[in-house]
Amino acid sequence: MTTSKNGILTDSPSLLDDAATYATEFLERLPERRVAPLASAEELRKALGGPLPDGPRDPHQVLAELTRAAEPGLMATPGGRFFGFVIGGSLPAALAADWLASAWDQNAGLYAAAPAASVVEEVCGVWLIELLGLPEDASFGLVTGCQMANFTALAAARHSVLEAIGWDVEADGLSGAPAVQLIAGEERHVTIDRALRFLGLGTADLRTVPADGQGRMRADALQDALAECTGPTIVCAQAGNVNTGAIDPLRAICDTAHEAGAWVHVDGAFGMWAAASPGLRQLVGGIERADSWATDAHKWLNVPYDSGFVFCAHQVAHQAAMGIHASYLVHSEGQERDEMDWNPEFSRRARGFPVYAALRSLGRSGVAELVDRCCAHARRFAEDLRGEPGVEVLNEVVLNQVLVRFLDPGRDHDARTRAVVKAVQEDGTCWLGGTTWHGKAAMRISVSNWSTTTEDVDRSVAAILRAAS
Ligand SMILES: Cc1ncc(COP(=O)(O)O)c(C=O)c1O
Repeated sequence: MTTSKNGILTDSPSLLDDAATYATEFLERLPERRVAPLASAEELRKALGGPLPDGPRDPHQVLAELTRAAEPGLMATPGGRFFGFVIGGSLPAALAADWLASAWDQNAGLYAAAPAASVVEEVCGVWLIELLGLPEDASFGLVTGCQMANFTALAAARHSVLEAIGWDVEADGLSGAPAVQLIAGEERHVTIDRALRFLGLGTADLRTVPADGQGRMRADALQDALAECTGPTIVCAQAGNVNTGAIDPLRAICDTAHEAGAWVHVDGAFGMWAAASPGLRQLVGGIERADSWATDAHKWLNVPYDSGFVFCAHQVAHQAAMGIHASYLVHSEGQERDEMDWNPEFSRRARGFPVYAALRSLGRSGVAELVDRCCAHARRFAEDLRGEPGVEVLNEVVLNQVLVRFLDPGRDHDARTRAVVKAVQEDGTCWLGGTTWHGKAAMRISVSNWSTTTEDVDRSVAAILRAAS
């Protein structure tokens, strides 16, 4: 142990060894560990809380205590039997590179402050554009997740549609601005609404387009909505309904909306990754025709939290919405990439390193296999559960999402379904959540983890059927 001049205790190399030991122990236990946490909030507060220490404490001790106290409150989300929400794990290369990102502690705002971080992001953007089938000259930005990607893309959209009628929203704001017409599918993700709130566009006048039985926006109904709009218009489409995985008819949406002069944004948090699989690519046919796209790396690419991407077909609008200059900053002369020109953050983590490691370790075929494997596991869940008496699968399993309903002899199917979800969570073999789909309670299974095996699926099906019996 050494003490630095400012009195902070440091012993970094062996501290990092400690962290590696604790992390490895956690990861090694994942395959057999109970998935749900054991501790209550009260127990965690007791273990982690108390008064702020008056002075320094041995960092080894801090790490040991933190690990001991936090462990009972950890959800085994990086493991192969976590099927809640849409949460990926961490690919080994991505996790290790994420540690390096912390050790290197680069501020990925400006090229001048962190050249390697800037170039790595540049490379990731180019690779992802190819992998996701987007226009070669699309601009991109790395953000914390798909919500912020939606926000960034819609800021570019707001700039563009208002600029087209002579309004400079960055300078003049929205007060007195012509109204922006907003259209989205009725099954959009809530983060679209949140992004519209953050952007001052509001949600009260949002026109919602009816969806089909799987949650896909109806392109014919979009035409009706567009016919009601005059002036600057933004259409929000979706690749990957959070419940069913269904993907909007993107080609028809883009063509219809563009005919009306509207901007099309695609929220593709996880569904856009269908483009990376030759077998699934047709599900997102026409995606390249949109104006902006939002997706996540921390879902299907299995990069540690937090990591998302925004892409934009209109570089100038993207940069106009996000770009910023200050006299004390060293801006590049145009040859290098200053990340803060493409995302809402100023200073930020160099989250490109883990993305780069994930993409490089998987390669094109590895990403396709990861996506295909998760979808095959989802189909296996659906086939095995559907065959059981009193079990219904509510959606067409086109991607990685499965909705299951449990029928009750007393006809209270909602209560029984919710009870089965709760019982599965308590059992601990796997973890999945519940939802309401078309007014019916449902169990929601999302397969998004690189490490999920067929055995994990079979063990989880057995646990679900046990809970339902
Ligand atoms: C379709 C869709 N859009 C946006 C989001 C928000 O993503 P994030 O939590 O990464 O911000 C999600 C999250 O599940 C999603 O499924």
